[in-house]
Amino acid sequence: MAVGVDIREVGPRDGLQAEGPVSVEERVRLIEALIDAGIRHIEACSFVSPKAVPSMAGAAEVMARVPRAPEYRYAALVPNVKGAEMALESGVDELTATISASETYNQRNVRMSVGESLAQIEKICAVASGAQIPVDAIVSCAFGSPYEAVGPAEVATLARRLLDGGAGCITYADTTGMATPPLIETLEGAAGGIDGLHLHDSRGTALVNAYAALELGVRRFDTSVGGLGGSPFADGAAGNLATEELVYVLGDLGYETGIDIDRLLGVSALVARLIGHPVASRLAAAGPRDGQRG
Ligand code: COA
Ligand code: ZN
Repeated sequence: MAVGVDIREVGPRDGLQAEGPVSVEERVRLIEALIDAGIRHIEACSFVSPKAVPSMAGAAEVMARVPRAPEYRYAALVPNVKGAEMALESGVDELTATISASETYNQRNVRMSVGESLAQIEKICAVASGAQIPVDAIVSCAFGSPYEAVGPAEVATLARRLLDGGAGCITYADTTGMATPPLIETLEGAAGGIDGLHLHDSRGTALVNAYAALELGVRRFDTSVGGLGGSPFADGAAGNLATEELVYVLGDLGYETGIDIDRLLGVSALVARLIGHPVASRLAAAGPRDGQRG
């Protein structure tokens, strides 16, 4: 039997947060199209200050309108307990709690020190545990920061604290696309394994990093349809690893994703229409090989 890879589609959150506001209706339409393409795990929105990220306003309305089925799994990004309470109220299946290994980036992103974010995430975990909803702590700038040096030992220590504080798992995020395969391997060694990876393609290394991680046994990836994405709070952040580019390669490698590459490319075209400009994905531009299936 083929080995499964869990793709968490973050386009509706990481992707759209970097763009001008898209209506709730169109955000729901995008999520429906992703589901139609076979995606089952989606970061649908974030419960954050609308002043900080105007494009994510209306998160509860998005959650109220997304299609539901036992196999559809919706995550929402939260920076604090207020966001976690709103997300739980809206019926999410999972919380992605954001924190950074980089003190300056954390301050820019959530206006808290790393220590304060850690304390928030412990509280988030307590609230989520009462609702029996798992928390995935996303450690951004895990492979480097534009603001200061971030080493693997520091990142591993932060991850351990998050797990001790109640997080169910950790996703290491390469927020500004600084990782290369040796850095992935070094962090894997320092942290004693990698649960999940969130890769950005700022320096053209996202796909090769994903391949290196697969070889190390990583089986969960955050990707964004069209390669949309980027943090408005990090200098030099560019798009996420494109979902279609990872699915294209995984298909040939024999991993099971349940995602239809042709339909996914249709979603990539839809997203380009929604944001009003072409997407970064090279596969979307070139098209799949004949007969290629995800
Ligand atoms: N959801 C919605 N509104 C929130 C909120 C949340 N999770 N947390 C705080 N707010 C509101 C407060 O109620 C307050 O509203 P008011 O001005 O109408 O009274 C306002 O936001 C400011 O609250 P405060 O606690 O002082 O926050 P802050 O200004 O120090 O900002 C964050 C801190 C975390 C709320 C803000 O920086 C943020 O939302 N960052 C998210 C960034 C992000 O999404 N990055 C994505 C890349 S990972
Ligand atoms: Zn990201």
